[in-house]
Amino acid sequence: MPAMSRCRVCQHALLEFFDFERQPLSSAFVAPDGTDDEFFFRLAVGMCESCALVQLIESVPPELAHHEGYPYHSAGSSVMTKHFEETARRFIETELTGPDPFVVEIGANDGVLLHTCGEAGIRHLAVEPSGAGTVRVHRAFFDAASAAAILATDGPADVVYSANTICSVPDLRPVFEGLDVLLASDGVFVFEDPYLGEILERTAFDQIYDEHVFFFTVRAVQALAERFGFVLADVERLPVHGGQIRYTVARAGRRTPTPAVAELLAEERELGLTDMATLEAFGRKIQGIRTELVALLHRLRAEGHTIAAYGATAKSSTIANYCGIGPDLVPYVCDTTPAKHGRLTPGSHIPVRPAAVFADPYPDYALLFAWNHAEEIMAKERAFREAGGRWILYVPHVHVV
Ligand code: TMP
Repeated sequence: MPAMSRCRVCQHALLEFFDFERQPLSSAFVAPDGTDDEFFFRLAVGMCESCALVQLIESVPPELAHHEGYPYHSAGSSVMTKHFEETARRFIETELTGPDPFVVEIGANDGVLLHTCGEAGIRHLAVEPSGAGTVRVHRAFFDAASAAAILATDGPADVVYSANTICSVPDLRPVFEGLDVLLASDGVFVFEDPYLGEILERTAFDQIYDEHVFFFTVRAVQALAERFGFVLADVERLPVHGGQIRYTVARAGRRTPTPAVAELLAEERELGLTDMATLEAFGRKIQGIRTELVALLHRLRAEGHTIAAYGATAKSSTIANYCGIGPDLVPYVCDTTPAKHGRLTPGSHIPVRPAAVFADPYPDYALLFAWNHAEEIMAKERAFREAGGRWILYVPHVHVV
Protein backbone atom coordinates (compact mmCIF):
# COMPACT_ATOMS: atom_id res chain seq x y z
CA MET A 1 0.00 0.00 0.00
CA PRO A 2 1.46 3.46 -0.86
CA ALA A 3 2.55 5.53 2.16
CA MET A 4 -0.11 8.16 1.53
CA SER A 5 -2.92 5.65 2.07
CA ARG A 6 -1.91 5.20 5.69
CA CYS A 7 -3.07 7.18 8.72
CA ARG A 8 -0.77 10.14 9.34
CA VAL A 9 -0.90 9.48 13.09
CA CYS A 10 -0.99 5.70 13.68
CA GLN A 11 0.03 4.32 10.26
CA HIS A 12 -2.94 1.99 9.89
CA ALA A 13 -4.79 1.73 6.58
CA LEU A 14 -7.13 4.51 5.41
CA LEU A 15 -10.55 3.44 4.17
CA GLU A 16 -11.45 5.84 1.36
CA PHE A 17 -15.08 7.03 1.21
CA PHE A 18 -15.15 9.91 -1.27
CA ASP A 19 -13.12 11.16 -4.20
CA PHE A 20 -13.47 14.75 -5.49
CA GLU A 21 -10.93 13.92 -8.19
CA ARG A 22 -8.69 16.63 -9.63
CA GLN A 23 -8.62 19.79 -7.47
CA PRO A 24 -6.33 22.85 -7.31
CA LEU A 25 -4.87 24.49 -4.19
CA SER A 26 -7.84 26.30 -2.67
CA SER A 27 -6.00 29.57 -1.96
CA ALA A 28 -4.00 29.69 -5.20
CA PHE A 29 -5.89 32.52 -6.89
CA VAL A 30 -4.33 32.85 -10.33
CA ALA A 31 -3.47 35.82 -12.51
CA PRO A 32 -5.50 35.77 -15.75
CA ASP A 33 -2.34 34.85 -17.71
CA GLY A 34 -1.15 32.25 -15.16
CA THR A 35 -3.61 29.43 -15.66
CA ASP A 36 -1.14 27.18 -17.49
CA ASP A 37 0.95 26.28 -14.43
CA GLU A 38 -1.71 25.51 -11.85
CA PHE A 39 -1.04 22.62 -9.48
CA PHE A 40 -3.69 19.90 -9.18
CA PHE A 41 -3.95 16.88 -6.90
CA ARG A 42 -6.47 14.15 -6.11
CA LEU A 43 -8.74 15.37 -3.32
CA ALA A 44 -10.11 12.26 -1.61
CA VAL A 45 -11.04 11.47 1.98
CA GLY A 46 -10.79 8.34 4.10
CA MET A 47 -11.00 7.15 7.68
CA CYS A 48 -8.28 5.30 9.59
CA GLU A 49 -9.42 1.73 10.21
CA SER A 50 -7.83 1.83 13.67
CA CYS A 51 -8.03 5.30 15.29
CA ALA A 52 -11.00 6.50 13.16
CA LEU A 53 -9.30 9.78 12.26
CA VAL A 54 -10.85 11.09 9.04
CA GLN A 55 -8.27 12.67 6.76
CA LEU A 56 -7.24 13.44 3.20
CA ILE A 57 -5.85 10.48 1.29
CA GLU A 58 -3.20 12.59 -0.45
CA SER A 59 -1.31 15.61 0.90
CA VAL A 60 -0.06 18.44 -1.24
CA PRO A 61 3.72 18.98 -1.09
CA PRO A 62 4.46 21.17 1.98
CA GLU A 63 6.34 23.77 -0.07
CA LEU A 64 3.11 24.37 -2.00
CA ALA A 65 0.78 24.21 1.00
CA HIS A 66 2.07 27.41 2.63
CA HIS A 67 2.57 29.57 -0.39
CA GLU A 68 3.29 33.28 -0.19
CA GLY A 69 0.59 35.86 0.30
CA TYR A 70 -1.86 33.56 2.01
CA PRO A 71 -5.00 35.68 1.74
CA TYR A 72 -6.81 34.65 4.94
CA HIS A 73 -7.40 37.33 7.56
CA SER A 74 -9.88 36.67 10.32
CA ALA A 75 -10.46 40.42 10.75
CA GLY A 76 -12.32 40.26 7.41
CA SER A 77 -15.25 39.03 9.47
CA SER A 78 -16.64 40.96 12.43
CA VAL A 79 -18.14 37.71 13.77
CA MET A 80 -14.69 36.10 13.90
CA THR A 81 -13.11 39.16 15.54
CA LYS A 82 -15.77 39.00 18.25
CA HIS A 83 -15.23 35.26 18.61
CA PHE A 84 -11.49 35.68 19.24
CA GLU A 85 -12.06 38.58 21.66
CA GLU A 86 -14.54 36.49 23.64
CA THR A 87 -12.20 33.50 23.66
CA ALA A 88 -9.42 35.72 25.02
CA ARG A 89 -11.68 37.05 27.77
CA ARG A 90 -12.70 33.50 28.69
CA PHE A 91 -9.04 32.44 29.03
CA ILE A 92 -8.31 35.54 31.12
CA GLU A 93 -11.10 34.53 33.53
CA THR A 94 -10.27 30.81 33.70
CA GLU A 95 -6.85 29.52 32.66
CA LEU A 96 -4.83 32.75 32.93
CA THR A 97 -5.56 33.70 36.55
CA GLY A 98 -2.24 32.70 38.17
CA PRO A 99 0.72 35.02 38.77
CA ASP A 100 2.19 36.37 35.52
CA PRO A 101 0.40 33.96 33.14
CA PHE A 102 1.67 33.24 29.62
CA VAL A 103 -0.39 32.40 26.51
CA VAL A 104 0.94 31.10 23.20
CA GLU A 105 -0.99 30.88 19.95
CA ILE A 106 -0.02 28.56 17.11
CA GLY A 107 -0.85 30.22 13.78
CA ALA A 108 -2.26 33.49 15.07
CA ASN A 109 -4.13 34.69 11.95
CA ASP A 110 -4.16 38.45 12.51
CA GLY A 111 -3.61 38.35 16.25
CA VAL A 112 -7.03 39.33 17.60
CA LEU A 113 -6.88 36.84 20.50
CA LEU A 114 -3.33 37.69 21.57
CA HIS A 115 -3.92 41.40 21.15
CA THR A 116 -6.90 41.17 23.52
CA CYS A 117 -4.79 39.21 26.04
CA GLY A 118 -2.02 41.79 25.70
CA GLU A 119 -4.39 44.65 26.46
CA ALA A 120 -5.20 42.85 29.72
CA GLY A 121 -1.48 42.85 30.54
CA ILE A 122 -0.94 39.14 29.85
CA ARG A 123 2.35 37.91 28.39
CA HIS A 124 1.71 36.41 24.96
CA LEU A 125 3.48 35.07 21.91
CA ALA A 126 2.44 33.90 18.45
CA VAL A 127 4.27 30.96 16.87
CA GLU A 128 4.00 30.82 13.12
CA PRO A 129 6.35 30.71 10.16
CA SER A 130 5.03 33.74 8.26
CA GLY A 131 4.57 35.99 11.27
CA ALA A 132 3.16 39.23 9.96
CA GLY A 133 0.89 41.24 12.24
CA THR A 134 0.77 43.37 15.31
CA VAL A 135 1.60 40.87 18.06
CA ARG A 136 4.95 39.45 19.21
CA VAL A 137 5.88 36.51 16.97
CA HIS A 138 8.32 33.60 17.18
CA ARG A 139 8.87 32.77 13.51
CA ALA A 140 8.85 28.98 13.32
CA PHE A 141 6.64 25.95 13.05
CA PHE A 142 5.54 24.79 16.49
CA ASP A 143 7.62 21.73 17.46
CA ALA A 144 10.00 20.55 20.22
CA ALA A 145 12.81 22.88 19.06
CA SER A 146 10.75 26.07 18.88
CA ALA A 147 8.98 25.11 22.14
CA ALA A 148 12.36 24.72 23.88
CA ALA A 149 13.49 28.12 22.59
CA ILE A 150 10.31 29.73 23.91
CA LEU A 151 10.59 27.92 27.24
CA ALA A 152 14.13 29.26 27.64
CA THR A 153 13.10 32.89 27.11
CA ASP A 154 9.52 33.00 28.45
CA GLY A 155 9.03 29.98 30.70
CA PRO A 156 6.17 27.47 30.53
CA ALA A 157 2.85 28.32 28.89
CA ASP A 158 -0.44 28.21 30.78
CA VAL A 159 -2.42 28.09 27.54
CA VAL A 160 -1.40 27.06 24.06
CA TYR A 161 -4.24 27.96 21.71
CA SER A 162 -4.83 27.34 18.03
CA ALA A 163 -7.80 28.04 15.76
CA ASN A 164 -8.24 26.58 12.28
CA THR A 165 -4.65 25.43 12.17
CA ILE A 166 -4.20 22.01 13.79
CA CYS A 167 -6.50 20.40 11.20
CA SER A 168 -4.09 21.54 8.51
CA VAL A 169 -0.86 20.22 10.06
CA PRO A 170 -0.17 16.88 8.34
CA ASP A 171 2.36 15.73 10.95
CA LEU A 172 0.94 16.18 14.45
CA ARG A 173 3.75 14.40 16.32
CA PRO A 174 6.04 17.48 16.45
CA VAL A 175 3.11 19.56 17.73
CA PHE A 176 2.53 17.23 20.68
CA GLU A 177 6.28 16.97 21.31
CA GLY A 178 6.35 20.77 21.49
CA LEU A 179 3.41 20.80 23.89
CA ASP A 180 5.20 18.34 26.14
CA VAL A 181 8.14 20.75 26.28
CA LEU A 182 6.27 24.02 26.70
CA LEU A 183 3.05 23.42 28.63
CA ALA A 184 3.08 24.19 32.36
CA SER A 185 2.23 21.09 34.42
CA ASP A 186 -1.34 22.36 34.75
CA GLY A 187 -1.40 24.07 31.38
CA VAL A 188 -3.87 23.35 28.60
CA PHE A 189 -3.74 23.04 24.86
CA VAL A 190 -6.96 24.42 23.39
CA PHE A 191 -7.68 24.05 19.70
CA GLU A 192 -10.73 24.51 17.51
CA ASP A 193 -11.36 23.17 14.06
CA PRO A 194 -14.24 22.11 11.80
CA TYR A 195 -16.19 19.19 13.28
CA LEU A 196 -16.89 16.10 11.19
CA GLY A 197 -20.29 15.72 12.89
CA GLU A 198 -21.33 19.16 11.75
CA ILE A 199 -19.92 18.63 8.25
CA LEU A 200 -22.00 15.47 7.89
CA GLU A 201 -25.11 16.99 9.43
CA ARG A 202 -25.03 19.93 7.00
CA THR A 203 -23.48 18.04 4.09
CA ALA A 204 -20.91 20.83 4.21
CA PHE A 205 -18.56 19.01 1.88
CA ASP A 206 -16.87 22.24 0.85
CA GLN A 207 -15.00 22.09 4.20
CA ILE A 208 -12.95 19.40 2.45
CA TYR A 209 -10.06 21.04 0.60
CA ASP A 210 -6.27 20.88 0.49
CA GLU A 211 -5.67 22.89 3.67
CA HIS A 212 -7.98 20.77 5.82
CA VAL A 213 -6.01 17.56 6.25
CA PHE A 214 -7.94 16.25 9.27
CA PHE A 215 -11.67 16.22 10.07
CA PHE A 216 -11.73 15.69 13.80
CA THR A 217 -14.22 13.86 15.97
CA VAL A 218 -14.20 13.61 19.75
CA ARG A 219 -13.39 9.92 19.38
CA ALA A 220 -10.36 10.56 17.18
CA VAL A 221 -9.04 13.50 19.24
CA GLN A 222 -9.31 11.49 22.44
CA ALA A 223 -7.22 8.72 20.85
CA LEU A 224 -4.78 11.28 19.48
CA ALA A 225 -4.27 12.98 22.85
CA GLU A 226 -3.78 9.68 24.68
CA ARG A 227 -1.31 8.48 22.09
CA PHE A 228 0.99 11.38 23.00
CA GLY A 229 0.55 11.21 26.80
CA PHE A 230 -2.26 13.74 27.15
CA VAL A 231 -5.94 13.61 28.05
CA LEU A 232 -8.94 15.16 26.30
CA ALA A 233 -10.31 17.17 29.23
CA ASP A 234 -13.17 19.13 27.67
CA VAL A 235 -15.08 19.70 24.43
CA GLU A 236 -17.35 22.53 23.41
CA ARG A 237 -19.34 23.05 20.23
CA LEU A 238 -18.85 26.42 18.54
CA PRO A 239 -21.11 28.04 15.95
CA VAL A 240 -18.31 29.72 13.94
CA HIS A 241 -17.17 28.70 10.45
CA GLY A 242 -20.16 26.45 9.94
CA GLY A 243 -19.73 24.41 13.13
CA GLN A 244 -16.59 23.57 15.04
CA ILE A 245 -15.46 21.91 18.25
CA ARG A 246 -13.09 23.46 20.76
CA TYR A 247 -10.97 20.71 22.33
CA THR A 248 -9.15 21.22 25.64
CA VAL A 249 -6.21 18.88 26.13
CA ALA A 250 -4.16 18.57 29.35
CA ARG A 251 -1.25 16.44 30.54
CA ALA A 252 -2.38 12.91 31.46
CA GLY A 253 -3.58 12.73 35.06
CA ARG A 254 -3.79 16.52 35.52
CA ARG A 255 -7.49 16.98 34.70
CA THR A 256 -10.63 14.90 34.97
CA PRO A 257 -12.58 14.99 31.71
CA THR A 258 -15.81 17.01 31.95
CA PRO A 259 -19.15 15.25 31.32
CA ALA A 260 -19.28 16.98 27.92
CA VAL A 261 -16.59 14.60 26.63
CA ALA A 262 -18.60 11.45 27.43
CA GLU A 263 -21.80 13.08 26.19
CA LEU A 264 -20.38 13.94 22.77
CA LEU A 265 -18.68 10.53 22.51
CA ALA A 266 -22.05 8.87 23.14
CA GLU A 267 -23.70 11.13 20.58
CA GLU A 268 -21.06 10.23 18.00
CA ARG A 269 -21.63 6.52 18.64
CA GLU A 270 -25.38 6.92 18.31
CA LEU A 271 -25.03 8.82 15.02
CA GLY A 272 -22.57 6.24 13.71
CA LEU A 273 -20.29 9.15 12.90
CA THR A 274 -17.27 6.94 12.33
CA ASP A 275 -19.09 4.09 10.56
CA MET A 276 -18.18 3.64 6.91
CA ALA A 277 -21.89 3.31 6.04
CA THR A 278 -22.51 6.84 7.41
CA LEU A 279 -19.54 8.26 5.53
CA GLU A 280 -20.59 6.58 2.29
CA ALA A 281 -24.13 7.96 2.68
CA PHE A 282 -22.54 11.42 3.06
CA GLY A 283 -20.80 10.78 -0.28
CA ARG A 284 -24.12 10.03 -1.99
CA LYS A 285 -25.57 13.29 -0.64
CA ILE A 286 -22.59 15.20 -2.07
CA GLN A 287 -23.33 13.75 -5.50
CA GLY A 288 -26.98 14.77 -5.13
CA ILE A 289 -26.07 18.37 -4.29
CA ARG A 290 -23.83 18.58 -7.35
CA THR A 291 -26.62 17.35 -9.65
CA GLU A 292 -29.17 19.79 -8.20
CA LEU A 293 -26.91 22.84 -8.04
CA VAL A 294 -25.63 22.45 -11.59
CA ALA A 295 -29.20 21.92 -12.90
CA LEU A 296 -30.41 25.04 -11.06
CA LEU A 297 -27.60 27.24 -12.41
CA HIS A 298 -28.16 26.00 -15.98
CA ARG A 299 -31.89 26.58 -15.72
CA LEU A 300 -31.46 30.14 -14.39
CA ARG A 301 -29.00 30.97 -17.15
CA ALA A 302 -31.30 29.47 -19.79
CA GLU A 303 -34.11 31.65 -18.44
CA GLY A 304 -31.91 34.70 -18.97
CA HIS A 305 -31.19 35.49 -15.31
CA THR A 306 -27.90 37.03 -14.23
CA ILE A 307 -25.87 35.20 -11.57
CA ALA A 308 -22.83 36.23 -9.51
CA ALA A 309 -21.09 34.49 -6.65
CA TYR A 310 -20.37 36.09 -3.27
CA GLY A 311 -17.21 35.38 -1.21
CA ALA A 312 -14.19 33.82 -2.93
CA THR A 313 -13.61 31.47 0.00
CA ALA A 314 -11.07 28.67 0.10
CA LYS A 315 -13.91 26.21 0.56
CA SER A 316 -15.69 27.38 -2.61
CA SER A 317 -12.80 25.90 -4.57
CA THR A 318 -14.12 22.40 -3.87
CA ILE A 319 -17.70 23.30 -4.88
CA ALA A 320 -16.71 25.16 -8.04
CA ASN A 321 -14.26 22.53 -9.27
CA TYR A 322 -16.26 19.47 -8.26
CA CYS A 323 -19.44 20.89 -9.86
CA GLY A 324 -17.64 22.33 -12.88
CA ILE A 325 -18.87 25.87 -12.14
CA GLY A 326 -16.83 28.30 -14.23
CA PRO A 327 -17.26 31.82 -15.67
CA ASP A 328 -19.73 30.50 -18.27
CA LEU A 329 -22.23 29.77 -15.48
CA VAL A 330 -21.11 32.36 -12.89
CA PRO A 331 -19.28 35.25 -14.62
CA TYR A 332 -17.72 36.79 -11.47
CA VAL A 333 -17.39 36.49 -7.69
CA CYS A 334 -17.41 39.50 -5.35
CA ASP A 335 -15.04 39.50 -2.38
CA THR A 336 -13.70 41.99 0.17
CA THR A 337 -10.06 40.77 0.02
CA PRO A 338 -7.97 43.19 -2.10
CA ALA A 339 -5.27 40.53 -2.74
CA LYS A 340 -7.82 38.42 -4.63
CA HIS A 341 -9.14 41.21 -6.89
CA GLY A 342 -8.22 40.91 -10.56
CA ARG A 343 -7.37 37.25 -10.06
CA LEU A 344 -9.25 34.09 -11.00
CA THR A 345 -10.56 31.45 -8.62
CA PRO A 346 -8.24 28.40 -8.58
CA GLY A 347 -9.09 25.76 -11.17
CA SER A 348 -12.54 27.17 -11.93
CA HIS A 349 -11.22 30.55 -13.22
CA ILE A 350 -14.08 32.78 -12.09
CA PRO A 351 -12.84 36.44 -12.02
CA VAL A 352 -12.77 37.95 -8.49
CA ARG A 353 -14.14 41.50 -8.25
CA PRO A 354 -14.35 43.95 -5.32
CA ALA A 355 -17.40 43.76 -3.06
CA ALA A 356 -18.64 47.13 -4.36
CA VAL A 357 -19.21 45.58 -7.81
CA PHE A 358 -22.02 43.49 -6.30
CA ALA A 359 -24.50 46.40 -6.31
CA ASP A 360 -23.40 47.77 -9.67
CA PRO A 361 -25.84 46.42 -10.78
CA TYR A 362 -27.12 43.62 -8.57
CA PRO A 363 -27.34 40.21 -10.26
CA ASP A 364 -30.71 38.41 -10.19
CA TYR A 365 -29.17 35.56 -8.16
CA ALA A 366 -26.12 35.39 -5.90
CA LEU A 367 -24.45 32.07 -5.20
CA LEU A 368 -23.33 32.41 -1.59
CA PHE A 369 -19.91 30.74 -1.54
CA ALA A 370 -19.25 32.31 1.91
CA TRP A 371 -22.28 30.54 3.41
CA ASN A 372 -20.52 30.24 6.77
CA HIS A 373 -20.84 34.04 7.02
CA ALA A 374 -24.44 34.01 5.73
CA GLU A 375 -26.00 35.94 8.60
CA GLU A 376 -23.40 38.71 8.49
CA ILE A 377 -23.44 39.00 4.70
CA MET A 378 -27.22 38.90 4.31
CA ALA A 379 -27.57 41.64 6.93
CA LYS A 380 -24.93 43.74 5.19
CA GLU A 381 -26.46 43.17 1.78
CA ARG A 382 -30.11 43.60 2.80
CA ALA A 383 -30.64 45.96 -0.15
CA PHE A 384 -29.91 43.10 -2.58
CA ARG A 385 -33.01 41.16 -1.52
CA GLU A 386 -35.05 44.34 -1.24
CA ALA A 387 -34.16 44.99 -4.89
CA GLY A 388 -35.57 41.56 -5.80
CA GLY A 389 -32.29 39.59 -5.66
CA ARG A 390 -32.19 36.02 -4.36
CA TRP A 391 -29.47 34.04 -2.60
CA ILE A 392 -28.59 30.53 -3.76
CA LEU A 393 -27.34 28.25 -0.98
CA TYR A 394 -26.24 24.62 -1.20
CA VAL A 395 -25.77 23.86 2.50
CA PRO A 396 -27.41 21.77 3.91
CA HIS A 397 -29.20 21.33 0.55
CA VAL A 398 -29.69 23.40 -2.61
CA HIS A 399 -32.20 26.18 -1.94
CA VAL A 400 -33.02 29.77 -2.93
CA VAL A 401 -33.92 32.42 -0.35
P1 TMP B 1 -13.38 32.40 5.26
O1 TMP B 1 -14.69 31.68 5.17
O2 TMP B 1 -12.22 31.51 5.09
O3 TMP B 1 -13.34 33.32 6.45
O4 TMP B 1 -13.29 33.35 3.96
C1 TMP B 1 -14.15 34.40 3.83
C2 TMP B 1 -14.00 35.01 2.44
O5 TMP B 1 -15.21 35.68 2.15
C3 TMP B 1 -12.89 36.02 2.30
O6 TMP B 1 -12.29 35.92 1.03
C4 TMP B 1 -13.59 37.37 2.46
C5 TMP B 1 -14.96 37.06 1.92
N1 TMP B 1 -16.00 37.83 2.60
C6 TMP B 1 -16.64 38.81 1.87
O7 TMP B 1 -16.37 39.02 0.70
N2 TMP B 1 -17.60 39.56 2.52
C7 TMP B 1 -17.92 39.36 3.84
O8 TMP B 1 -18.79 40.06 4.38
C8 TMP B 1 -17.25 38.32 4.57
C9 TMP B 1 -17.58 38.07 6.01
C10 TMP B 1 -16.30 37.59 3.91
